[in-house]
Amino acid sequence: MIGVTAAGPAVSITGLGCNVPDRVVTNADLARFVDTSDDWIVERTGIHERRMVDEGEALSDIALPACRDALAQAGLEGKDLDLLIVATVTPDMAFPSTAAILADQLGATSAAAYDLSAGCTGFVYGLAQGYAMVAGGLAARTLVVGGDVLSRLLDWDDRSTLVLFGDGAGAVVLEVVPDRGFVGFELGADGGGGQNLWLPGSGSRLFDPSVKYVKMNGPEVFKFATRILVQSARELLAKCEVSIDDVDLYIPHQANMRIIDHATRKLGVPSERVVINVDRYGNTSSGSIPLALADAAADGRLRPGQLVLMTGMGAGLTWGSALIRWTKEMAA
Ligand code: ACO
Repeated sequence: MIGVTAAGPAVSITGLGCNVPDRVVTNADLARFVDTSDDWIVERTGIHERRMVDEGEALSDIALPACRDALAQAGLEGKDLDLLIVATVTPDMAFPSTAAILADQLGATSAAAYDLSAGCTGFVYGLAQGYAMVAGGLAARTLVVGGDVLSRLLDWDDRSTLVLFGDGAGAVVLEVVPDRGFVGFELGADGGGGQNLWLPGSGSRLFDPSVKYVKMNGPEVFKFATRILVQSARELLAKCEVSIDDVDLYIPHQANMRIIDHATRKLGVPSERVVINVDRYGNTSSGSIPLALADAAADGRLRPGQLVLMTGMGAGLTWGSALIRWTKEMAA
C-alpha cells in the first residue's frame, strides 16, 4: 500500500484545466439504441446526460485545451515542463503514448512523457506519481492529465454499460510550493476482481476487434465501489490524523449517484461538501475527479486553505485517495 507523504518539500496543484467534448448525449438519445428509459437511468445512476466525442476525435484532442488552461493558470509554458503523465485507459493508440503526443503539441520538448493505466483511479495514481517525482526532486514541474474517451469502447447494443459512461479530461500542474499542499495518499489494487470490469480483445492476450467492448459485472462493481470508497478514505484520514469533519470538499469518483450517496452517508460528509458532476457528464473515468475539481473552482467552492479529499476506484480493480490542502486561488 502506498502510504502517507513523509516530511519533505511541500507540493501542490498550481494550475487546473478541464475540457469535455461539445456533443451532448441525453438519456433519450440512448433510448433510441437500447431498451432503456430516462426514468431508469436517472433513478439507478443519477445520470441525465453525458458528453461524447465526434467521429475522428481522440483523447489528445479533448485533453489539449485542459493542458493549456492548467499551464496558463500556473504561469507556465509547455517548454517549462519536466514530466507529463497521462492517466487513461483510452489513449489515442497503444503507442506512441498520448502523453508523448500531448508533449509534442504543447512544445514540452524537455519533458519525459508516459501514459499510466489504472482504470478510473488513474488520475489519483497520477497525482501520487507526480507528487513523488516533484517532492523527490526528479521533476520540478509536472503536468498530470486524467482523461478518457470511453464512448469508443462501448457496445451500443449493451444497455447495462452504454448508459453509464461519458468522455472528458482534466489536467493539473504540480510544483513545489511554500506551504504544504498534498497531505497524503492511499492507493491499492485487487487484480483478483479484475474480471468484473474488463476489455477483452485489447492486448497481447487477445487482440480481436470482435470483442473490443467494455464488459462489466455491474452488481459486483457496485459492491466493490461502495466498500472501497469508504475504506480507502477512512484509512487515509486515519493515517493523516484528520477527522472527516475537517474535510471541506469531498470529491468521490463519479460513477453512479447511488454509489456516491452511499459513500457520503457512511463517511458522514454533509451533502453541501460533496462535489457532483455525474448528472451532467456520466462516468468519465480518469476525467471525473479533475472535472469535479474544476467545477468546484468555477462555482467558488474550492478556495485556498480548504482540505480536499478525493477518492477514485475503477478497473483493475484499483482504488486511491488523495488529501490536499488547497493552496491557490483558481478561476476555472
Ligand atoms: N435500462 C433499463 N434496464 C436496465 C439497464 C438499462 N440501462 N441496465 C440494466 N437493466 C436491467 C437489467 O437487465 C436487470 O433486468 P432483469 O431484472 O430483467 O434482469 C435490471 O435492470 C436490474 O439490473 P441490475 O444490474 O441489478 O441493476 P442495478 O440496480 O444494479 O443497476 C448498474 C445497474 C447501474 C450498472 C449498477 O449495478 C452499477 O452502477 N454498478 C456499478 C457500475 C460502475 O460504477 N461501473 C464503473 C465503475 S469503475 C469505473 O469507473 C470504470
